[in-house]
Amino acid sequence: MGDDGKQAAPGATPRHVAIIMDGNGRWAQARGRPRQAGHKAGVDSVRAVLEACAKHQVTCLTLFAFSSENWKRPGTEVKLLMQLFQRTLEREARRLHKNGIRLRFIGDRARFSAPLRQAMDEAEALTRGNEGLYLNIAVSYGGRWDAATAARRIAERVARGELTPEQVDETLFAREVSLADLPEPDLFIRTGGERRISNFLLWQLAYTELYFTDRLWPDFREQAFEAALQDFRCRQRRFGLTSEQLVETEQHA
Ligand code: FPP
Repeated sequence: MGDDGKQAAPGATPRHVAIIMDGNGRWAQARGRPRQAGHKAGVDSVRAVLEACAKHQVTCLTLFAFSSENWKRPGTEVKLLMQLFQRTLEREARRLHKNGIRLRFIGDRARFSAPLRQAMDEAEALTRGNEGLYLNIAVSYGGRWDAATAARRIAERVARGELTPEQVDETLFAREVSLADLPEPDLFIRTGGERRISNFLLWQLAYTELYFTDRLWPDFREQAFEAALQDFRCRQRRFGLTSEQLVETEQHA
């Protein structure tokens, strides 16, 4: 899918939804269970949201599963999360493939164990030709890491003499960040009550509509997702223009 530069029109369903899945730990603690139980329940919410995306013709879904900063969590939690990722991947890859989902991981995967990297590579290879939902999972990901990696790639091209510094502009930079081939997210959702972007897709979220909910991720299922879509449909996206200019643009479209 090439990005034709268009965003979802007013009143439409978002084409690309990006989610920070927060609140697993608190969900588990509230039930007197270990944090890992919350992460496991969070996998069921991922399934529910995937089904809701298919139902509502959302074409891209990007989930923040593990941030660059999450490596600093207690070693046991990190280890259990890595096991959960690997098991989920091994268990679900074929089902995702059968449903036409194209899976991709974004982030610094050099930090993962060799077996987990291999499971990621295999799941991506298996689903590469699919044309259904684009499912992107951000793992060991940070928006600053993404921007710095893009800057490094551009600097290397300048050093090789393929580009001059004057050629480096927003369009060129946008082609180097993660998910450059997809439309930018129309809707960002964060569960769990915090009102922050927390180093998620910093470049890509420039004009994204932000939606925050107190609901914890394991409780975020189809109806909660539909409420976020409904909220999005009521927003007016101006992209820096005035409301009057937008009306004129729509009349001439
Ligand atoms: C944040 O909640 C959640 C995570 C760091 C892990 C997210 C992982 C999943 C939902 C599991 C599976 C996902 C995939 C795609 C395989 P938190 O632990 O920060 O919760 P808290 O704020 O209540 O402590």
